[in-house]
Amino acid sequence: MQRAVFPGSFDPLTNGHLDIIKRSAPLFDEMIIAVLNNLDKSPMFTAEERCEMIREALPSVDTSECTMLVEAFSGLTAEFARKSNATAIVRGIRAVSDYEYELRMALMNRRLEPTIETVFLMAGEEYSYVSSTLMKQVFELGGRVDGLIPGLVEEKMRAKQNR
Ligand code: PNS
Repeated sequence: MQRAVFPGSFDPLTNGHLDIIKRSAPLFDEMIIAVLNNLDKSPMFTAEERCEMIREALPSVDTSECTMLVEAFSGLTAEFARKSNATAIVRGIRAVSDYEYELRMALMNRRLEPTIETVFLMAGEEYSYVSSTLMKQVFELGGRVDGLIPGLVEEKMRAKQNR
């Protein structure tokens, strides 16, 4: 049984994340989408809200035989992956600019947990510029983000804005 962890902030979930989830599915039997409860940042959505929107968006993705679980976590990703009995940490790479940061994280995670490998997947080129930060910024300034984030996420962002 190959279990992977796909960690991230997911604030909010983008179609780029869903693309990585879809690409990971044939590679693993089970994947935990691990939502960081990042207390040091001030996220737009709480960890529970982020988990909820991922759960709601998952049925729109073909995850074939892979069981997808969504969990919030705090602390180290490597520690969470070990406790979850995962053998791999999945991360998406959009462009060369992601590589340096991802390499440092992968090496640190490997030092912390030598038996867990980081698996990098290349995001679809149509999402190569899509990040949660950019989506929030464009949305908050009134720009269009449809096609780049799931519709249900856009609705939740709109609800937050009007609050
Ligand atoms: O979606 P993001 O913000 O790029 O995800 C970054 C994340 C959550 C994977 C990273 O910040 C992380 O692993 N944080 C947990 C704390 C940790 O393990 N830090 C050391 C990483 S080597």
